[in-house]
Amino acid sequence: MKIAFVGKGGSGKTTLSSLFIRHLAANEAHVIAVDADINQHLGAALGLDEAEAAALPAMGAHLPLIKDYLRGANPRIASAETMIKTTPPGEGSRLLRVREDNPIFAACSRTVRLDDGDVRLMATGPFTESDLGVACYHSKVGAVELCLNHLVDGPDEYVVVDMTAGSDSFASGMFTRFDMTFLVAEPTRKGVSVYRQYKEYARDFGVALKVVGNKVQGPDDLEFLRAEVGDDLLIGIGHSDWVRSMEKGRPSRFELLEADNRMALQTLQDTAEDSYGLRDWERYTRQMVHFHLKNAESWGNEKTGADLAAQVDPAFVLDERRTGAGVTAPA
Ligand SMILES: Nc1ncnc2c1ncn2[C@@H]1O[C@H](COP(=O)(O)OP(=O)(O)OP(=O)(O)O)[C@@H](O)[C@H]1O
Ligand SMILES: [Mg+2]
Repeated sequence: MKIAFVGKGGSGKTTLSSLFIRHLAANEAHVIAVDADINQHLGAALGLDEAEAAALPAMGAHLPLIKDYLRGANPRIASAETMIKTTPPGEGSRLLRVREDNPIFAACSRTVRLDDGDVRLMATGPFTESDLGVACYHSKVGAVELCLNHLVDGPDEYVVVDMTAGSDSFASGMFTRFDMTFLVAEPTRKGVSVYRQYKEYARDFGVALKVVGNKVQGPDDLEFLRAEVGDDLLIGIGHSDWVRSMEKGRPSRFELLEADNRMALQTLQDTAEDSYGLRDWERYTRQMVHFHLKNAESWGNEKTGADLAAQVDPAFVLDERRTGAGVTAPA
């Protein structure tokens, strides 16, 4: 199951992603955590110290390896150079499984030990001012998108992405890759403005979107959110002393997280599971093809000098029965 946390800067995406990841690990789920935000803080929120976080491999730096591996023996993709971030898998492509070992995970992920189990952490790598709006920014996020599009995930396997709600994710189709998108919003007008923009894109593609109110201080805050987003409001999360003490560098064990916050995290998990149960793999595959054709036409064909529409394998449907081509070993 694939889950994204999006929202305005500072709303609490990273905090809630990290709490959710810890909650899943405590429930013995298999988790890949992905830091795809402009501000790369997920590692720190999962307890890595500065040196460990800085030493995380950057997916953006391994794009050639990622493309070469995923392309596999797919005859429709002539070379890694003609593979763009939206190139969909087809017969012969290598797929990824959450619990396997493969060269991409070896190069781009690190195991993070939490109180209640291990998770895999992958990070796009830091974005610099000069990245924004140019090719390397797109390729960093593109590395995540390629992996999501080639990933076959089962019901007890989670990919949790801490993500920027930027225009890039709308142009490429990244925002349609998730079974559930949690939009983190503080109970303020600015907090819900990102929701409106997201909702607009989401509507046309049947994206499952729920608002998680954060830093909610009382019934008045919840009423405000309810009035602004209606039934899309899933739950409100209050200030957490547990989070605050972690921020002070005095982390306590996850089992000491406030009970109401723990219950809220369970609601998030239940909601994501329900939504995964409704996943339509054919539609999922169709959407990646849709965005690929769009990207091919608008810039990809010109950039690569190839007809990228020919990369689409019309008979291919990504689904749970397909296995990765890596060496399968439990995480
Ligand atoms: N429920 C909460 N209780 C206590 N502190 C919180 C809570 N949610 C967020 N915070 C604090 O608010 C700050 C911003 O949160 P966070 O970094 O998670 O936001 P973000 O949306 O990821 O921001 P950015 O856009 O910079 O990536 C952090 O200092 C975090 O510890
Ligand atoms: Mg963040």
